[in-house]
Amino acid sequence: MDLKLTGQVALVTGAASGIGQHLAQGYAAAGAKVVVNDINADGVAQTVDTIKAQGGDALGAPVDITELSAVEGMIADATKAFGQVDIVVNNAALLTEHTLYLETDPASCEREIRVILFGTMHCIRAALPGMIERNHGKILNIATDAARVGQEREANYSAAKGGVISFSKSIAKEVGRHNINVNVLSPGATNSPMRIGLQEGLKEKLGEERWLAREEKVKRLYPLRRIGEMEDISNTAMFLTSDVARHITGQVLSVNGGFAMVG
Ligand SMILES: NC(=O)c1ccc[n+]([C@@H]2O[C@H](COP(=O)([O-])OP(=O)(O)OC[C@H]3O[C@@H](n4cnc5c(N)ncnc54)[C@H](O)[C@@H]3O)[C@@H](O)[C@H]2O)c1
Repeated sequence: MDLKLTGQVALVTGAASGIGQHLAQGYAAAGAKVVVNDINADGVAQTVDTIKAQGGDALGAPVDITELSAVEGMIADATKAFGQVDIVVNNAALLTEHTLYLETDPASCEREIRVILFGTMHCIRAALPGMIERNHGKILNIATDAARVGQEREANYSAAKGGVISFSKSIAKEVGRHNINVNVLSPGATNSPMRIGLQEGLKEKLGEERWLAREEKVKRLYPLRRIGEMEDISNTAMFLTSDVARHITGQVLSVNGGFAMVG
């Protein structure tokens, strides 16, 4: 199936590593021009260089998405460079603590909510006017199944992502008449640097044997008996932000090996 992404301009936040980086490269390989955002400037440069080395077109945007004025500047720069922004994927996030809510640091809690929820809201605030003007746009917000079904030791992160889900549905209702689709992709556990880093920490804490037993137990929670890979997420993201998915809006799609089957 041709997703017809050639010539589209796609902004991916948090694209210096992991799923965002994989997705940015996927868009470029599909012929889209990519705006590579991340707070990690070195990672942005690396992603841009990789895309260009593979013959793609990319613009680096090393911007902290919690700063609305910086986000507005990023959209202005992207529009100057590429003429428009057709697709926004709000992927940037951070999970600073894997601990019980009462043991979390209020400052980390606030930062997680600022990046995940306000960062997403800022990017949408900045990108929507151009999309409305052109009567075309695709917005995809990356959530997590932790927000759909709850997850102990991830309460702050889940709360921020839960906010992203309800914000997405409300915006989908507001902008559908402008031919703009707003959806949410909700990954289950996915082998990205973020998860691998968390697992390394757990391995250190539990020891190799207990960690392996835990990992097997985790896999049994997934009817497909596997942990997701980054391409599972990016393939679905590209579909949801293409015109092939033009009749889908306001939906939350879990890509999770069956971990949670939310009605
Ligand atoms: N990996 C998983 O198992 C999993 C599961 C469910 C959901 N997710 C979601 O998928 C998305 C990608 O996750 P990942 O595993 O690739 O994580 P990752 O940590 O590799 O990538 C997140 C990126 O966001 C960037 N970022 C953080 N704060 C930022 C800011 N203020 N401005 C701009 N960029 C900022 C980070 O620098 C990082 O490069 C996230 O939204 C995450 O919540 C991941």
